[in-house]
Amino acid sequence: MSIRVIEQVRAMQAWADKVRREGKRIGLVPTMGCLHEGHLSLIRLARKRTDVVVVSIFVNPTQFGPTEDFEKYPRTFDRDQELVEQAGGEIIFAPGVEEMYPPGFDTSVTVARLTKGLCGASRPGHFRGVTTVVTKLLCAAKPHVAVFGQKDFQQAAVIRRMVRDLNLDVEIVTAPIVREADGLAMSSRNAYLSPKERRDARVLFQSLEKGEKMVRDGEREASEIIAAMKTEIEAKPAARIDYVAVVDAETLEPVTHLKGRALVALAVWIGKTRLIDNVVLEEK
Ligand code: PAF
Repeated sequence: MSIRVIEQVRAMQAWADKVRREGKRIGLVPTMGCLHEGHLSLIRLARKRTDVVVVSIFVNPTQFGPTEDFEKYPRTFDRDQELVEQAGGEIIFAPGVEEMYPPGFDTSVTVARLTKGLCGASRPGHFRGVTTVVTKLLCAAKPHVAVFGQKDFQQAAVIRRMVRDLNLDVEIVTAPIVREADGLAMSSRNAYLSPKERRDARVLFQSLEKGEKMVRDGEREASEIIAAMKTEIEAKPAARIDYVAVVDAETLEPVTHLKGRALVALAVWIGKTRLIDNVVLEEK
């Protein structure tokens, strides 16, 4: 079966209504395109949980800051289309900017506290853009299940909270990070890296592994873990730390002494490319 591309919200809703009337369950995988194995794992997971999978491809301008990479964000639609088909998606929802944000658009969705720290601190307005567009994508595709990647841990936490707080009738599922052979988390932005930067980018995962090992060896003080990780990252001349943080995995509030489920998260600039990664530590 070949994939169908839908560009209008109304047509997307009409398709979703029809499929729901047939008693089928809809899965949604929201993306900004430039698909990689990480996205494909989300599509496969959605396919396992539902009968028909919609993949949205929309580079959402409202989640990019004025100095960020909206214009140059990689757009690879034809290849994405093939990959969605191979991974088992049925529909690509690919609205234009005017379709999602027509003249006079004046509404946004904000999750307050969970968006204050981590990426929210260095990307003001980013999560408001994400929660607003995800709400619109949910209203368009009417999924039973929506799948997000764990690499954007804060994004997934914020969306879960939004869905809970607004009683949105959808199940949010998160899928594990997919990594390259050397540990680098897959990301569309990895495409920006020069070969030398690509090598230096390994330091993100290496420092997370270092933090994990310290905890395995008995370290519980967040400040010690953060300091050791920063030292490791700063040894790479191309790397500039945005943040390295140890937070509670539910509240995303900083923890000083590790207990329960903690998230070790970081954002690091490699040259002009900002990359993020994280690990969740379960205290037994
Ligand atoms: O994770 C992303 O690619 C985007 O933030 C999302 C969820 C598709 C919203 O634009």
